[in-house]
Amino acid sequence: MRQKRRCENMKTISIVNLKGGVGKTVTAVNLAAILATEYNARVLLIDADHQGNASRFYRIPAEPGTLADLFEGMCLCYSDLVQHTIYRGLDVIPADMSLAALDLDGSLPDDVQGGTPRDRALRVLTDLRDAVIEDDAYDYLIIDCPPAFSVASISAVAASSDIVIPVKPGAFEIDGMAELLRQIDGIRRVNGAVQVGVLLTMWHNADVVRQGEDWLRANCPVPVFQTRIRRTDKVDESTFAREPVCQWSPTSAAARDYRAWVREYLGGGTDGAQG
Ligand SMILES: Nc1ncnc2c1ncn2[C@@H]1O[C@H](COP(=O)(O)OP(=O)(O)OP(=O)(O)O)[C@@H](O)[C@H]1O
Ligand SMILES: [Mg+2]
Repeated sequence: MRQKRRCENMKTISIVNLKGGVGKTVTAVNLAAILATEYNARVLLIDADHQGNASRFYRIPAEPGTLADLFEGMCLCYSDLVQHTIYRGLDVIPADMSLAALDLDGSLPDDVQGGTPRDRALRVLTDLRDAVIEDDAYDYLIIDCPPAFSVASISAVAASSDIVIPVKPGAFEIDGMAELLRQIDGIRRVNGAVQVGVLLTMWHNADVVRQGEDWLRANCPVPVFQTRIRRTDKVDESTFAREPVCQWSPTSAAARDYRAWVREYLGGGTDGAQG
């Protein structure tokens, strides 16, 4: 029987980068799978991206409800939105295009107490986190964010204990660093207490990648994890097959790297990472 644990130390980890296609969703779905299947943890993966990629990955339909229902006040309790995956201990709250409507003026309910509709929306994921802690329901909340500072992603940042920023080092140049600094600044303004760590994804052995990595490690104001995730076709294959890469190809470079990264992360948050 699954051992009952207290989750006062529950971690809420958001995967954030305003840049698209850097490996946020791949990181979120694989982190969730590794924690559930290899660490016996109770994991709730929250899809906060209207693209719904994490939901599709785990074959989670938009019925009976999606994260947008919590923001719109159509659903009051997160547990009504939770769906199980085929992996023991891994549940998902899905998202779909309806989440995008939140960022349009006037789409948030205006009949709520305590602040403007936007203020309330920004608290939704913090309230969800607190309810999960009260229920002792999960050990980890993992939030896959869209490539935008949307209402849902700001709400995710506000609720987080940890933020992981996946970065593709090959595509890295001075502009990229300036943008990353602006993002970290924005994150800190929303949540001053959050731990931020940068994870190098789609790493491969090329001059431009190694130079980008060296530059980032020397200049990044937040820790950069030692472990980097190598680029391999197995990740694309696993996404197509909708299986975590550790299940699809356990010995592939990305599977080994994601396992090593989770070990590093659990070993000391981002503290063990290189500053
Ligand atoms: N380690 C890897 N090796 C090879 N391909 C990868 C790796 N990580 C991610 N990819 C591929 O890169 C693409 C983008 O990944 P992903 O969807 O995770 O990015 P994202 O940051 O979530 O994008 P978006 O901002 O649009 O949500 C996908 O096709 C994915 O399969
Ligand atoms: Mg994504």
